[in-house]
Amino acid sequence: MSLLKRKKQAATDESAEPVTKPTKGERLGQAKDLGVHHSTQGGIDVAGWVDSRTNATGIFTAMMSRHVPKGTNWFYTLGSATMFIFAMQAITGVFLSMYYTPSATQAYASITHLTNEVFMGEFVRGMHKWGASLMIILIFLHMARTFFFGAYKYPRELNWVIGVVLLILTTVMGLTGYLLPFDQRSFWATIVANNITASGPVVGPYLADFLRAGPDFSATTLSRFYALHMMVVPGLIGALIGAHLFLVVKLGTTAPPWIRAPRPKGARPSEAIAAGVATEDLEEVPVAATASAGAAGVPVDEAEADAAEAEAVLATEAEETEAELSASAPAADETPVDEASTEEPADASAEPPAEDSGNGEVNS
Ligand code: HEM
Repeated sequence: MSLLKRKKQAATDESAEPVTKPTKGERLGQAKDLGVHHSTQGGIDVAGWVDSRTNATGIFTAMMSRHVPKGTNWFYTLGSATMFIFAMQAITGVFLSMYYTPSATQAYASITHLTNEVFMGEFVRGMHKWGASLMIILIFLHMARTFFFGAYKYPRELNWVIGVVLLILTTVMGLTGYLLPFDQRSFWATIVANNITASGPVVGPYLADFLRAGPDFSATTLSRFYALHMMVVPGLIGALIGAHLFLVVKLGTTAPPWIRAPRPKGARPSEAIAAGVATEDLEEVPVAATASAGAAGVPVDEAEADAAEAEAVLATEAEETEAELSASAPAADETPVDEASTEEPADASAEPPAEDSGNGEVNS
């Protein structure tokens, strides 16, 4: 480049406006102006347009690109599997409802027609029927996972309670759906279920009356079950799944019980804090704290054992740090660092850095 050209270039650079970084929404929205021709261009434009008005991609990213703890496994997919089956039930249910007639005189005939004459009718009905059983199995397995992994504990108690309501509503879906074909088996089985409901304490008789929708089991019972099965309960389940997932995203996923978060380097080990004693006091006067632990109902032995354990951990950490330092700084005539770290230390008193401290906690 000639000197003149270089001067011109410099002048242009100086007069150039400071570049401000466009937001994500703007970037997506302006993609068209960049002259990029791509088959997905239309999709990007629409996504940018929607995103700049809703920040939907932010929500989507928060849902789909969450950090999950180390050690998560296939058991963590049971909730999503339950949700998938719920979606399948909703889809197959919509198709079934196109042919079903919720009337005491026509319900059975409409189901027979759907099964024998409608294209893929038997298949869709079968999917809906098997899906109902599968959803119940999956929901129990998912509940067992959250229970055995301790995911019901603070701060996820509310999510557990929402889960219990979801479980009840799912069984209500099973009960109300069972009557809909209105054949001999579904008719008599539902009468038995209604009588069992009536035998429940306090609310039992009222609940049975509500479900029966009258003094006798009749056509109005079928209408009531149909309304509950088609609208009320799926609506509630959908809304509660939304709340359930919101809390999962907000609170994060529980780590498996055998994985403990590594303690950051230099962090102090956990200590038993006696009721009514401020943390600063504990650090200043540990003896008084231990004594007041006894006064507060915490056995002194236990508090002392905790304090001793904390001291032992601190001592081990100091030893580890020393061992690490001595391993990484060999004398000039000693083995190189990478070899030394793979071998047993020559000095018997220097312990190798521990992989696992023995209490299930993984050291980083
Ligand atoms: C329609 C039924 C249900 C659906 C669709 C559903 C869906 C989900 C999903 C997708 C997750 C996140 C992924 C996972 O941890 O598996 C989750 C987490 C959770 N669910 Fe459910 N769930 C349902 C019922 C239940 C039930 C019956 C309970 C317990 C009574 C329950 C308790 C929990 C808890 C405590 C978590 C948090 C787990 C953690 O943080 O590790 N859920 N659920």
